[in-house]
Amino acid sequence: MLLVDAGDNFGGISEPEKRKAEVILRSMGAMGYDALGLGEIELNHGLDFLLDTAREAKVPLVCANLVSHRTGKPVVQPYVLLRRGKVKVAVLGLMDNVLELISRSQGPDSLVVKDPFEVAHELIPALKKKADLVVLLSHMGYAKSSKLAAEIPELDVLVTGHSPSVNMEARREGNALGMMTGSRGQYVGYLLLRLGDKKSIETYESRLVPLDGRIRASALVDGFVNDYNLREKKLLEERARLQQEEALSHAGEDRYLGQETCRRCHADTYERIVQMGHARAFTTLTKTNSDGLSECLPCHTTGFGEPTGFMSASVTPDRKDVQCESCHGKGTSHKRDGSYRLAGEKSCLVCHTDERSPDFSYKTYMRKIAH
Ligand code: HEC
Ligand code: HEC
Ligand code: HEC
Ligand code: HEC
Repeated sequence: MLLVDAGDNFGGISEPEKRKAEVILRSMGAMGYDALGLGEIELNHGLDFLLDTAREAKVPLVCANLVSHRTGKPVVQPYVLLRRGKVKVAVLGLMDNVLELISRSQGPDSLVVKDPFEVAHELIPALKKKADLVVLLSHMGYAKSSKLAAEIPELDVLVTGHSPSVNMEARREGNALGMMTGSRGQYVGYLLLRLGDKKSIETYESRLVPLDGRIRASALVDGFVNDYNLREKKLLEERARLQQEEALSHAGEDRYLGQETCRRCHADTYERIVQMGHARAFTTLTKTNSDGLSECLPCHTTGFGEPTGFMSASVTPDRKDVQCESCHGKGTSHKRDGSYRLAGEKSCLVCHTDERSPDFSYKTYMRKIAH
C-alpha cells in the first residue's frame, strides 16, 4: 500500500493554526504517509517550520519545482522511490507556479516555483526508467493537471490537489489514472491497481471512502487532537485574564450585557430561548474539549473576539452560548424603532454558513426558534 496526499493540509496563518499544523503533520506521520506533495498552504508558516516539523513527524515531503532562489535546487526532495514487493514506484510532487502562492513564505525572493510543465517533461520520462510506476502528486488543480497528464504518456497515476470542491473516482487522464478527493478530510481516495507481467496497470478499482461516523477515529490521532485542544484552552484562559483588564477601558462604548439583563424585562422570551439549541452551543464544544478553540468560539458563544464579548469559560461565564445579543446585537444599542428586531433577522448567516449549516433556510429555521 502507498499512502499519499496532494497538499494544502493546513488552515490559516495565525499562531493557533501554526500549532494545529504541527498536530496535522504529527498525525500524518503516525498514519504512515509515504509522501506529501506540497501545496502553497504548507508554506503558510514558513519553510523552516515546515521542514523542521515534517522531519520530526517523519512525513516525507516531495516537490520537484519549488527551488531556492539562491541555489536553484529543490528545497525538498523532488520525488521518493518506493518499493512494494517487486514493484518500484516513483512518487513526485509538483505545484502550480502562481507566484502569489509563495509570497507568504520567507520573503518573495527566497523561493521560486519553476514551470511545472517544463520540470514534468524532463523528470517524469527519466523516472519511468528508474521505476515501474510513476505517481504524480499534482498541486495544480484539475484543469492543469489533466492537461499535463495528456502531454506525458509516461505518467501512471495522477493525484490532484488544489481544487477543494472536486471529488472524483479514478478516470483516464491521458495514459494515467487520475483521482481527486475533495477537501477537509471528508474523503479518502482508494485506488487498487492490478499489474500485468510487464508491471504495467492492467485493471483497477477505485472509490471515494467518506470519513463519516462509520470510520472510527484512531486513538493515537484523537490523543494528539485532544492534547492540542486542552493546550488551546489553557492559552485562551491566560489570554482572557489579560483581556479582562483591557475590556474595562471600553466601559463607555456599546457593550454586551448578557442575557440575564434581557431577562429582567423579557422574562417569557428568556424562558423560551434558554430551552433552544442555541443555549447548548457552548456545551456542544465542551464535549470534545473544543471550547478553547478560537476557530469555533465566534459561532458558539456571544461576542467572541470583541472587547466585551466572550473571552473564556472562567472569565466570562455569562457570555457562553448563542444568546439574545448574538442575534440582536449589543444590549446598549437596544432601540425600540424596529432596528433591534431587524438586526436579529440579519444575523443568521454570520453563523449558519454553507459549510457549517448546509440545510439552513431562514423560514424553516426561524420557525424552530420563534419567540
Ligand atoms: C452566533 C452564531 C449564531 C447565530 C447568529 C445564529 N445561530 Fe442558529 N445556531 C448556532 C449554533 C452554534 C447552533 C448549534 C447549537 C448546538 O450546539 O447544538 C445553532 C443551531 C440552530 C438551530 C437548531 C437548534 C434548534 O434550536 O432547533 C436553529 C433552528 C437555528 N440555529 C436557527 C437560527 C436562526 C433562524 C438564526 C437567525 C435568526 C440563527 N440561528 C442565528 C449559531 C448561530
Ligand atoms: C461559522 C460559524 C461556526 C463555526 C466557526 C463553528 N460552528 Fe459549529 N455549528 C454552527 C452552526 C450554525 C451549527 C448548527 C448547524 C445546523 O443545525 O444547521 C453548528 C453545529 C455544530 C455541532 C452539532 C451540534 C448538534 O448537536 O447538532 C457541533 C458538534 C459543532 N457545531 C462543533 C463545532 C466545532 C468543534 C467547531 C470548531 C472546530 C465549530 N463547531 C465551529 C456554526 C459554527
Ligand atoms: C438566534 C437569533 C436570536 C436569538 C438568540 C434571540 N432572538 Fe429575538 N428575534 C430574532 C429574530 C430573527 C426576530 C424577528 C423575527 C420574528 O419575530 O419572527 C426576533 C424578535 C424578537 C423580539 C420582537 C418580537 C416581536 O414580536 O416583535 C423580541 C422582543 C426579542 N426577539 C427578544 C429576544 C430576547 C430577549 C432574546 C434572548 C432571551 C432573544 N430575542 C434571542 C432572533 C433572535
Ligand atoms: C428595561 C427593560 C428592558 C430590558 C432590560 C431589555 N428590553 Fe428589550 N424591550 C423592552 C421594551 C419595553 C420593548 C418594546 C416593547 C416590546 O416590543 O416588547 C423592547 C423591545 C425589544 C425588541 C424589539 C425592538 C425593536 O423595535 O426592534 C427586542 C429585539 C428586544 N427588546 C431585545 C432585548 C434584548 C436582546 C435585551 C437584552 C440585551 C433586552 N431587550 C433588554 C424592554 C427591555
